[in-house]
Amino acid sequence: MPILHPVSRDALLPKLQDAFDFAQRQVRAVVDAHPDYSPMYTVKGKWAQEKDLWTHWCEGFFPSQMWMFHDLTRDPKWRGLAERYTVKLEPRKDDRNVHDLGFIFLNTYGRWYLLTRDRQLRDVIVQAGRTLALRFKEKGEYLCSFIGPDSLFIDIMMNVPVIFWAALETGDENLMSVASRHCLTSRKYIVRGDGSASHEGMFDLNTGEFLRQSTHQGYRSDSCWVRGLTWALYGFATSYRLSGDARFLETSQACADYYIAHCGEGLVPPWDFDVPEGPERIWDSSAGAIAASGLQELADLIPCPEKSRHYRNAALTILNSLTSESFLARYHPGQEGLLLHGVYHKNKGLGVDESVAWGDHFFVEALYRVLKAEG
Ligand code: GLY
Repeated sequence: MPILHPVSRDALLPKLQDAFDFAQRQVRAVVDAHPDYSPMYTVKGKWAQEKDLWTHWCEGFFPSQMWMFHDLTRDPKWRGLAERYTVKLEPRKDDRNVHDLGFIFLNTYGRWYLLTRDRQLRDVIVQAGRTLALRFKEKGEYLCSFIGPDSLFIDIMMNVPVIFWAALETGDENLMSVASRHCLTSRKYIVRGDGSASHEGMFDLNTGEFLRQSTHQGYRSDSCWVRGLTWALYGFATSYRLSGDARFLETSQACADYYIAHCGEGLVPPWDFDVPEGPERIWDSSAGAIAASGLQELADLIPCPEKSRHYRNAALTILNSLTSESFLARYHPGQEGLLLHGVYHKNKGLGVDESVAWGDHFFVEALYRVLKAEG
């Protein structure tokens, strides 16, 4: 394990609470300025300017923050808003155009269900899991991406948990098998032996043969697009929590170790680890935020106390960086997001060096995990 400077959780807590309070003010301002808008990425620091979305995957992230604000503050206004933004998503439980139903439903209906145990909410999530499972290709054994039937994305590791969830709720063995086989295929072909990850894997539709690694959002097909790596770090940890399959925990750890070893001090990464030094090597704070939350998920699950402390310390190191003047919009008046320096799609020029919905969301989730544990 690489040595990290220990971060004092107690010393950091006021800064984290302050960032959580700032997040509530920023989200409230977006609700007031743009009622019922679903953020994706800012343009020059302002929301509601997006022209091209590429795909519709972010709609759960804004209400998810409201559920977390409500859970820690018990403010009924947050509950009201969270419900209002969540119910609009219900029809998406049958959406066959995206591979993102885990992002959309576990973060919204999932949080709501935890609060109420209402059977109707549970049924919405189960249906979302069943819909996502329809993307499964028996030849090749993977859930295909929105790009096409021959494409597997590492991002789907964050969505496969909704199928595990539905399987556990219903006892449907086919759902469990689909989810497990998807994880095993991702682990085998798009997570590499050194713990780095590829964005996409391509398959022969006739035979199911794995053909090659490729990318849409990374620098090259053989590079490590860091957000993809953090989707794997987090998604394999959650898949272990839901399945008990120790191979998934091992993969999550391999990705975490690769991330920590390649980030440098502060543990906030560039958008791709293989981009050469120069003007193209810009930050992706959103990958840092995903890692800060995913590392806490991993720390909760890992049986070895020393490793658990190591991953939790890494998460706190990232949060210490993200709450600094370099990344937190609090120190930059006029910026409408939470985190500066996120990237959506560098190659298409979308949301480059901007605030992004999932960056803000996983940042809030990482803060929430620390503050909730504090009680
Ligand atoms: N499409 C998911 C992502 O940009 O990470």
